[in-house]
Amino acid sequence: MREASEHARRFPPEYRPPAPKPQAHLLRPLALIRTLKRNPLECWAAAHFEQPIVSGGLPIGHVLLVHEPRAIRHVLLDNAANYRKDHLQRRVLSAGLNDGLLSAEGEQWRAQRRVLAPMFAHRTVMDFMPAMMSAADTLIARWSATGDGSTIDVAAEMAKVTLDVVERTIFSDGFGSDAEDIRVAMAVYFNTIGRISPLDLLGVPDFIPRLSRLRVRSTLKFFEAEVDRVISARRRLLSERPDRAPNDLLTHLLEAMETDGRDGLTEAEVRSNILTFIAAGHETTANTLSWALFLLSQSQQWRARIEAEVDRELARPASKGIADRLVETRAVIEETIRLYPPIAAISRVAIGDDELNGEPVRPGSLIVISPYVLHRHRLLWDRPDVFDPQRFLGSGAAAIDRFAYLPFGAGPRKCIGSTFALQEATLVLAMIVKHFSFQLRPGHEVWPLLRVTLRPANGLPMIVTKRTNHPVRDGAGSRQMLTS
Ligand code: HEM
Repeated sequence: MREASEHARRFPPEYRPPAPKPQAHLLRPLALIRTLKRNPLECWAAAHFEQPIVSGGLPIGHVLLVHEPRAIRHVLLDNAANYRKDHLQRRVLSAGLNDGLLSAEGEQWRAQRRVLAPMFAHRTVMDFMPAMMSAADTLIARWSATGDGSTIDVAAEMAKVTLDVVERTIFSDGFGSDAEDIRVAMAVYFNTIGRISPLDLLGVPDFIPRLSRLRVRSTLKFFEAEVDRVISARRRLLSERPDRAPNDLLTHLLEAMETDGRDGLTEAEVRSNILTFIAAGHETTANTLSWALFLLSQSQQWRARIEAEVDRELARPASKGIADRLVETRAVIEETIRLYPPIAAISRVAIGDDELNGEPVRPGSLIVISPYVLHRHRLLWDRPDVFDPQRFLGSGAAAIDRFAYLPFGAGPRKCIGSTFALQEATLVLAMIVKHFSFQLRPGHEVWPLLRVTLRPANGLPMIVTKRTNHPVRDGAGSRQMLTS
């Protein structure tokens, strides 16, 4: 008996988190369009997870679905100049902010990237540690006040904490008296601007109004006006009392503006990039945290490991390098965005002729690289659908092909906020694990849904209890449909 339990401790059952079972065959156009509308994640067929390159499938010209590291490296890095971002992805992911880094192209993109890169360098991001910890403290205080054993929608709470981090790192002196109205308007803004309308799918240009945007026009205008107000106030402060200006992203952006013939950002670019950072950085990280909490709630083994790490590391005086010491917590985050990459597809359009592993690429060919498929590809990963953060620790991590793991993309257009996001997610997860146990509400079915980013459908209700020893069963409480 003791031997059996010792074995169970050393070799816990492998946990396969919920994921759609790949379609047996490539979907025909009508079924594809219907499934794309319901949940694009359910469109993928077994062939995509088994073959390096699959061509065709979409009724919109020549499409190549590429999930082979060498070919990906070719598109995103070696021959990146031959590929530009496609219209739809730019519209959806960049909230329609054409002047921002996410959607700018050519010389405008290059100049912006040069100016913005130092703001997201490891050293600068470490300066944001206190802001991230304060946002986590606010979350802990809020949960502590709700009472032990309460059910909390963790997905909504993660959206709150990541928005709080955005606010504290971009506008660290806050929004002023209208803060709550601005937060509501911000949520409406990004929910509306980032949504795909049928007109987008048909390639109708942006100046044709979308119904969804018309409905909330006054809220959108209010939010834009408030962002402009915050920018003007900070500009005044910087010119009158520069010593009083906070050390946040808004100050960095305004200091990077063009002055007296010096190259830099235009005013429109500053505004667009503020909105871009909020759009690109907030929901992605919120989903990362929601999925990480869900996965930990299903794995007693990893919960225990992370609890031990945070109890040890967070007991020491806080220092800027703390996120770098939380190595196992970070491995959980890395494994989380392998299984549930918030940006589940990256796409490019070919400018000129090319070739990928013998497959011809023509001008206008659409190249789709799905981190979701790539991270679960049968040719690239051992036990691809199993939750196992150990892959990202020790020698295993070094063996992972750089172009087989793309939660943040790769090449010149790799996510500029990756260090920021990893630090934020690691710190917030560590703080939550330090203070609380959490269990999925019994009966709640977790399912991944792709709506701009990859999120748990119907939220993530969890019973949250102040930390005591609450054993969780591996894999309890979730639908498991994958077989391998
Ligand atoms: C877990 C969180 C995040 C994930 C998974 C993520 C993912 C990505 C991916 C996959 C790309 C590349 C898209 C492509 O090549 O087409 C990207 C680009 C970008 N991300 Fe992130 N991101 C995250 C967090 C952030 C944060 C926190 C920020 C900023 C505060 C940010 C800002 C950007 C920007 C500005 C770009 C465009 C970079 C360029 O084109 O030069 N992201 N992100």
